[in-house]
Amino acid sequence: MPIIYNAATTLNGFLADEQDSLQWLFDVPGSGDAEAGISAFLTGINTVVMGSTTYEWLLNHLESPQALATSYGTRPIWVFTSRNLPVHEGTHVRLVNGPVAEALPRIRETGENIWVMGGGDLAGQFFDAGALDRITLTVAPVFLPAGRPTLPRRIESSRLSLVDHRQLGQFVELTYRVR
Ligand SMILES: NC(=O)c1ccc[n+]([C@@H]2O[C@H](COP(=O)([O-])OP(=O)(O)OC[C@H]3O[C@@H](n4cnc5c(N)ncnc54)[C@H](OP(=O)(O)O)[C@@H]3O)[C@@H](O)[C@H]2O)c1
Repeated sequence: MPIIYNAATTLNGFLADEQDSLQWLFDVPGSGDAEAGISAFLTGINTVVMGSTTYEWLLNHLESPQALATSYGTRPIWVFTSRNLPVHEGTHVRLVNGPVAEALPRIRETGENIWVMGGGDLAGQFFDAGALDRITLTVAPVFLPAGRPTLPRRIESSRLSLVDHRQLGQFVELTYRVR
C-alpha cells in the first residue's frame, strides 16, 4: 500500500515561491513534459492528499471547483486543514484535521495507492508518522531565492534508495524508496 509524495521542485528545494506562485514552473520550456509525467502517475493513484494552501491554490486557479473532478476523477481528495474550508458539490473533497497517524486509517480505507501532493511539511508529517514509502520529485531547471520548501526534514542517505530516474525534456524525475 504505497504512499507516495510526488511534486515538482526547483533545483534548490522549493515547491512554490513566497507568493505561492508556480509561474516559474509553467515558464520552463516544454513544461507539458512534467505535466505528462504527473498524468501518467495519476493513473495508478486511488486517493489524493494535500494541505490547505495547495487546495486553495487549486480552487483559485481551476476554472471552477468542479474542475477538480475533471482533474482527479472520483478519487477522494483529503485536505488537511484546521479551518472550515468550502467543499463544493460534485467534488470528492474530505476535510481532515489533526495528526497524520490518526487520519491515516480513514485515508487508507479510501484507496491503497495514495498520492501526497504537498506541501512539503505535510509530506514531512507523513514521513514523521512512518507512512511515506516513496518520494518522486520532478526537478525543474530553476533556482528561487526563497519559497515553500519541498521537504523540510532532515532525511539522510541511509533512509533513501534511488529506484528510478528519467529525463522529461528539461526536467529530471527522480524516485526514491524511503527506508
Ligand atoms: N510544485 C509542486 O508540485 C507543488 C505541489 C504541491 C503544492 N505546491 C504549492 O506549494 C505550496 C505549498 O504550500 P504550504 O507549504 O503552505 O503547504 P500545504 O500543505 O499546501 O498547506 C499547509 C497548511 O495545511 C494545513 N495543515 C497542514 N497539516 C495539517 C494537519 N496535520 N492538520 C490540519 N491542518 C493541517 C495548515 O493550514 P490550516 O490549518 O490553516 O488550513 C497548513 O498551514 C502551495 O503554494 C502549493 O500550491 C506545489
